[in-house]
Amino acid sequence: MYQGKFYRLLHPRPTVVVVTRCPNGGLNLMPASWNTPVSEDPPTVAVAVDRGSYTHECLQHHRYATLNVPPIDAADLVYRLGSVSGREVDKVAQFGVRLAPSQKVDVPRMADALAAYEVEVYKEVEVGEVTLYIFRVLDTWVASGVADQWGFDFKKVNIPLHGAGRAFYKVDPRPVYAKKTT
Ligand SMILES: Cc1cc2nc3c(=O)[nH]c(=O)nc-3n(C[C@H](O)[C@H](O)[C@H](O)COP(=O)(O)O)c2cc1C
Repeated sequence: MYQGKFYRLLHPRPTVVVVTRCPNGGLNLMPASWNTPVSEDPPTVAVAVDRGSYTHECLQHHRYATLNVPPIDAADLVYRLGSVSGREVDKVAQFGVRLAPSQKVDVPRMADALAAYEVEVYKEVEVGEVTLYIFRVLDTWVASGVADQWGFDFKKVNIPLHGAGRAFYKVDPRPVYAKKTT
């Protein structure tokens, strides 16, 4: 029997920063590594959000958000955004986060992200202490020159994969190709 927390064997995981619009009219940011694409048609992405978080309260208030893929050099920022609640501090002001307008939703994206999804709450599934928010993707933005049809060019950019605590990993840019099937 594995003695650690069971989910650690499914890390490291790509981390997104969820930007939400909150009841006080402000914006909030929360990193989330428990995220996954769900379906292609409709295009959906799910994020497990703790019900005690301010982000949860903000998503109950305003049903649109952006899911931002930060660069690896934002690992400090990502960790800090996940170490304090928007109930206590204005994270945009406190951490000097640069924001840029979205196309389809009234919630900005992170200006320095590598990519961002503009999303709307599609379904909610209550599981234990979290709400699994299944978001419908309304639009996708990618920084210029960092990705093609196969995804990011990891020779040019990298993303923070969350291990545990303060530990993040990078993607090794050298792919391991499986043998072709006959
Ligand atoms: C790298 C990282 C990944 C995290 N992933 C999740 C996650 O997937 N779901 C979640 O509910 N909390 C996650 N957290 C914790 C929240 O980000 C943290 O509780 C945050 O302070 C909540 O902020 P809020 O109250 O402003 O919404 C993560 C934290 C870090 C540092």
